[in-house]
Amino acid sequence: MLNPMYGRHAAEYAAAIRDNSYNAHYERPSLIALLPELQGKRVIDLGCGPGEYAAYLTSQGATVTAVDSSLEMISLVQQKLGNSVHAYVQDLAQGVPDEADRSFDLVVSPLMIHYLEDPTSLFRDVKRILKPEGLFVFSTHHPFVDYQFSPSGNYFLTEKIVDEWDTLGRPTRVEYFRRPLSALMQSLTDAGLCMVELSEGRPDEQMQQTDPESFQKLSTAPGFLFLKCRVV
Ligand SMILES: C[S@@+](CC[C@H](N)C(=O)[O-])C[C@H]1O[C@@H](n2cnc3c(N)ncnc32)[C@H](O)[C@@H]1O
Repeated sequence: MLNPMYGRHAAEYAAAIRDNSYNAHYERPSLIALLPELQGKRVIDLGCGPGEYAAYLTSQGATVTAVDSSLEMISLVQQKLGNSVHAYVQDLAQGVPDEADRSFDLVVSPLMIHYLEDPTSLFRDVKRILKPEGLFVFSTHHPFVDYQFSPSGNYFLTEKIVDEWDTLGRPTRVEYFRRPLSALMQSLTDAGLCMVELSEGRPDEQMQQTDPESFQKLSTAPGFLFLKCRVV
């Protein structure tokens, strides 16, 4: 499932999320708060997009591999970070077949797994490539938020949602999957991963000045879910 926002509109998407409310002042600070010390660590970023995380991770002293199904996104990462990051195209529905067992200290996957109908096989690969003490930190849409868009009204189904987002300043079609919290947790368990920390995120203080409406919304109701997991 390649959404146009991540394909032909990738450069616009990159510009939009650099300093917007939901990515720059809510998602990124909330996920970064769950990360361990990064100096000297080998990290893989699954669904790296235009490389905001890859840039942050390298700036903190990590050696970074960045993976995305979008050639346009990988080109943006290469333009921005050059040889300091190993970036390549891979459909993560097929896992990460080119990566060696037990080779990473940390796997991150911000806002990607809701594009997979079933993340279990990717989670199995995450377990395979993590070192025994490694961590998997990811974010995804909050199941309660996505439930309001359920075509069936049945929370317990996994369903494709077709929606329009204003991220680019105009309505842009996007497709993703919603699933119940229990299905997400079962996928992790089936893959041999277990959650060690959960966060529902917090907007940063800057958003209070720049976007008080979103600050109020995200201070009183969740937008995304943030999980830190380890190998069982
Ligand atoms: C919402 S963007 C998030 C980008 C980045 N993680 C961030 O937070 O800035 C989702 C990214 O996931 C990628 N993606 C979606 N489905 C994918 C798949 N099956 N395999 C690899 N990447 C995928 C998209 O191309 C896009 O770059």
